[in-house]
Amino acid sequence: MKTATLSPFAKAVLDGMQKIPKQIPSLYFYDEAGSQLFEQIMQLPEYYLTNAEKSILQNQSNEILSAWQGSNHISEKLQIIELGAGNGEKTIFLLKSALSLFPAHQLEFIPIDISQAALEKLSHTCWQHFPQLSLNPVQGDYWEVLEDFSHHAEGTKKLVLFLGSNIGNMTWTESIAFYKKLFSFLKTGDAVLTGFDLKKDIHLLIPAYNDSSGVTREFNLNLLRRMNRELGATFALEKWDHYPIYNPVKGAMESYLISKEKQTVVFKNLNCDFHFEIAEPILTEVSFKYSFSQINDLAKNSGFALIENFTDAKQYFVDSLWVKS
Ligand SMILES: C[S@@+](CC[C@H](N)C(=O)[O-])C[C@H]1O[C@@H](n2cnc3c(N)ncnc32)[C@H](O)[C@@H]1O
Repeated sequence: MKTATLSPFAKAVLDGMQKIPKQIPSLYFYDEAGSQLFEQIMQLPEYYLTNAEKSILQNQSNEILSAWQGSNHISEKLQIIELGAGNGEKTIFLLKSALSLFPAHQLEFIPIDISQAALEKLSHTCWQHFPQLSLNPVQGDYWEVLEDFSHHAEGTKKLVLFLGSNIGNMTWTESIAFYKKLFSFLKTGDAVLTGFDLKKDIHLLIPAYNDSSGVTREFNLNLLRRMNRELGATFALEKWDHYPIYNPVKGAMESYLISKEKQTVVFKNLNCDFHFEIAEPILTEVSFKYSFSQINDLAKNSGFALIENFTDAKQYFVDSLWVKS
């Protein structure tokens, strides 16, 4: 089969199955079922990340927006661009503040997500809460969509949101490359607000990725369902385990699917098969946890000035505001 004719998902799986360990990039979790499962994860008591970041945005959105505005004369047109926006449940607090703090400005909200289902949910919420808001959702991989933005909207001041510990899925090198790319299309005074999950007691981390009701397990196993459906694969779900661990050397949660037995899986649509040994893993997600000094270094190494860190009361999470100065 010519790889040029394959979908991005098929290419990523074909590529990842030939790596050691076998792996699939985490953005492919988010088909329709995956996006719905992630919404359930966000409601779980063990998944502290959502409530921690929600409390930051609920209580400190005005301070965040004022720090973005700074002493600069604010432009007529403001854009809030959100990368990997999901259902936008937390972003609405920031949008509400922006509409009331800057009533005389044209505010455009551009959520970008690979998941059409997530964007539809988000759009519905925005229309309900803010009928006056100019909303322009874009479906796609934000790495690619960002390319287009460099040509867009002269004369607007931008705030890029990268919330929910999305950044945690990137390695250090990928993060630097990502922020440098962002830096190159932003103008002086534009800002980026990133949600970092802070390093903490690992006894809080493990249950967040292995909840007692089994939703994160379903979320991980859903990747096998997706490969069966879209790639004609023959994964039998009962032959796989969900296995999250904390890697203290990397400072990251790692989620795996582990083969319970020696088996061969056929990918009919790819005209190939892959063999798995007993206990062989497929790496499906890495979620890095950060210290304040790492966040500082990341901003500095990618050219941004760190303006302020906004944390929740328990210091589980931080929304860090950086500006291109
Ligand atoms: C962990 S969720 C976070 C959602 C939201 N930002 C929040 O804080 O609740 C990750 C979201 O990013 C999207 N996503 C992941 N990788 C992406 C990529 N490369 N391009 C676009 N969207 C992506 C997923 O579809 C999902 O909605």
